[in-house]
Amino acid sequence: MAGTFDDTRSAALFARARRVLPGGVNSPVRAMRAIGRDPLFIERGAGAEIVDVDGNRYVDYVCSWGALIAGHAHPHVLAAVSAAAQRGTSFGAPTAAEVELAEEVARRVPGAEMVRMTSSGTEAAMTAVRLARAHTGRDAVVKFAGAYHGHSDGLLAAAGSGLATQGIPASPGVPAATAAATVVVPWNDREALIAASERHALAAILAEPCPANMGVVEPAPGFLELLRERADATGALLVLDEVISGFRVGRGGAAERYGVRADLVVLGKILGGGLPAAAIAGSRELLEELAPVGEVYQAGTLSGNPLAVAAGLATLELLDEGAYEQLAASTAALADGLRAAARGHAVSVAALPGLLTVFFAERPPADLAQVARCDVAAHAAWCRELLARGVYPPPSQYEAWFVSLAHGAEHIERTVQAAAGAFAALGR
Ligand SMILES: Cc1ncc(COP(=O)(O)O)c(C=O)c1O
Repeated sequence: MAGTFDDTRSAALFARARRVLPGGVNSPVRAMRAIGRDPLFIERGAGAEIVDVDGNRYVDYVCSWGALIAGHAHPHVLAAVSAAAQRGTSFGAPTAAEVELAEEVARRVPGAEMVRMTSSGTEAAMTAVRLARAHTGRDAVVKFAGAYHGHSDGLLAAAGSGLATQGIPASPGVPAATAAATVVVPWNDREALIAASERHALAAILAEPCPANMGVVEPAPGFLELLRERADATGALLVLDEVISGFRVGRGGAAERYGVRADLVVLGKILGGGLPAAAIAGSRELLEELAPVGEVYQAGTLSGNPLAVAAGLATLELLDEGAYEQLAASTAALADGLRAAARGHAVSVAALPGLLTVFFAERPPADLAQVARCDVAAHAAWCRELLARGVYPPPSQYEAWFVSLAHGAEHIERTVQAAAGAFAALGR
């Protein structure tokens, strides 16, 4: 098993890559440092599987970090993208398909009367914050520890000590003054949220409604309702970042699943069906504060790109009621199988439809501080064993596994067997 795993070609490519790409990658988590190995270079993917440059085949649970809910190279998505490409790849002028996609978002996402598209979730979250600030005339924004909203300066803020703290830069290069306008609150901490909303004049409360960037950590009962109540009581906007949960945990995302009304919703990943697209959505009143109707500036050369819009529309066409039932059932089967495979280990599984995290902790964590107490060394070793057994997990304890519609019973069975083997190898 682990002994026969050959990654010679990946290793050679990584050596070349490190000469021309910082750390050999274009996005840090891909470097696999958190699980103590070098990255694998992927050659191709089909359905639920990917194949690396050494010919190793894996059941893929990254699925482009959730963008590929239909799996790799889905024929319906490919046909739509290639038909769009035949007509031209980008115009920088309006197209009919953008209108269709916005209409489909409006049909699905509660409160989404209008949509403004961007190319990345980072831009969309940044735009939501700008719009909230312009609308309220206030600067401060609450975000939750462990949530990720892309890498714009103001949202790369980390918690200081204490319950609800003015953010400190989470990266060199982020101005202290910019991070200080972000108030960082522990997830699921009612008291800290109330304190923050009383102490600061908030433009927005920004949350992943079911956080997946510290692993999957569901909201405690009543917590999302508290976000809504605090926004209403203070005049702040409630911005739900559904870049991961949107179109995944249900047809209308987490807002629909948990029955919470957002003022602005941030969308991405599935919206672009594996090509770069993201958006903010909300009421006409708010969205028309954006240029060219209003004065809040936001723009993008490739925004609403025809290929990304075609991939997004084709993907949403696949996501009917039956698809959500299938996704919920296959995620539940995988979660149950992983729990059974983990018996005897201090491991728990947190799962939502289409998403799960295997936490190396007795119980699923409720906040970032609890995630930080997981046994990350054992998690890393287990992930390396999984790779050697043909399963490609997200290479960090702080991430979610993405299940797609292409993951069938046979993939899940294979994954559970590999997981059991990997746990057994940990004991040795
Ligand atoms: C919840 C959330 N918001 C925003 C982003 C940023 O999106 P992008 O990587 O497209 O900039 C991500 C990326 O993973 C995300 O998970």
